[in-house]
Amino acid sequence: MVPSLRIASISGGLLKCNQNSISAVVTRAGSWWSHVEMGPPDAILGVTEAFKKDTNPKKINLGVGAYRDDNGKPYVLPSVRKAEEKMASKKMDKEYSPISGAPDFCKLSISLALGDDSEHIKNGLCATTQSISGTGALRIGAAFLNAFFKGPKDVYLPTPTWGNHIPIMKHSGLGVKTYRYYDPKTCGFDFQGALQDLAKIPEGSVVIFHACAHNPTGVDPKPEQWAEISKVVKDKKLFPFFDMAYQGFASGNVDKDAAAVRLFLKDGHEIALCQSYAKNMGLYGERAGAFSLVTGSKDEAAKTLSQIKILIRPMYSNPPVNGSRIVMEILSDPGLKKEWLADVKGMADRIIGVRTQLRDNLKKEGSSKNWEHITDQIGMFCFTGMTHDQVERLTKEFSVYLTKDGRISMAGVTSKNVEYLAHAMHQVTK
Ligand SMILES: Cc1ncc(COP(=O)(O)O)c(C=O)c1O
Repeated sequence: MVPSLRIASISGGLLKCNQNSISAVVTRAGSWWSHVEMGPPDAILGVTEAFKKDTNPKKINLGVGAYRDDNGKPYVLPSVRKAEEKMASKKMDKEYSPISGAPDFCKLSISLALGDDSEHIKNGLCATTQSISGTGALRIGAAFLNAFFKGPKDVYLPTPTWGNHIPIMKHSGLGVKTYRYYDPKTCGFDFQGALQDLAKIPEGSVVIFHACAHNPTGVDPKPEQWAEISKVVKDKKLFPFFDMAYQGFASGNVDKDAAAVRLFLKDGHEIALCQSYAKNMGLYGERAGAFSLVTGSKDEAAKTLSQIKILIRPMYSNPPVNGSRIVMEILSDPGLKKEWLADVKGMADRIIGVRTQLRDNLKKEGSSKNWEHITDQIGMFCFTGMTHDQVERLTKEFSVYLTKDGRISMAGVTSKNVEYLAHAMHQVTK
């Protein structure tokens, strides 16, 4: 009988509903989903929707986390275009990829992260799988922790962190706790706060670190601070889980941006690592990324990879092929790789340049506030320190769109709109 079937599926724990919604299901024959309530819109996509509706010709969208060129347009890297031309001439098939992706893609990805001369790679300690970009890598990693991690099932995240980290971890069945990271007083890294909190985490827990270009704050620890963090993590026997979504995008140099990950390995940690080619190759919609465990032995690497594949199979069976082919074309061809590295540097340099322009224009406007953090911070985002009310005024009075936490995507700032933006920011903060 249909109504009792409906109730059975609800009481099976798949859906949350109350007594009223159950009776609504029972009484409204023929409708399966009348009890489902409207969910809130995504915070960032909501900003873009509001921006699209605005008719002010001076409007600026600083919400999206995707690179734009100096005309505010989406950018396909020239090296990516070349890779696509090479691929087109090869007339490749569209067969399924293996569960863990193309083996060459995995090898090239882990080499990019750890360096071509990595002892860990030479010794076969890495279990790497292709993933559905960085988000998918985090999801695989979280599923693996939930299934096999022997310590507490809570992961520790910096405050604040990328908005999707918390739901990804919870969706995988893990608990979420936090450690101090950003200091609103300095708009910089709360080094002492982070060290104190890390030292209090129960032994054997998982800690997530943004490898570089922390999102949303743009605040990264300095190399000597990473060294101290590594020590505390070692002393407390914590498991470091790195999210590296911006390798190369922060400083313009892929090796420099991977320094924290490489330092932890040098210090003897075993780690988990998530990689994404969304930002550094501009492959946002191609969904190419990788998840790796750097383990204690070749045998462990083989065993953990076998279990990772078992977790992936029912989630999405196997990953898409196109994005990973672009990555392979670029990273396996020394000439094209060199061109790509120059493209990455070009994007990073434009962002670094526009940070300086924004800070200088704020000074020119006569702002007496300290805006040094705009140039101290790194990567795609700047945590401006503007309050909720100031952000609201910026949007209402100047058609500048950003998230309520005062985060601006530097990728949306150009040499053409930077003066207007500085003027608007000064007006709402003076
Ligand atoms: C910190 C961080 N991790 C992971 C991701 C995942 O991005 P994607 O799934 O597009 O690779 C992002 C994207 O904004 C991010 O900022």
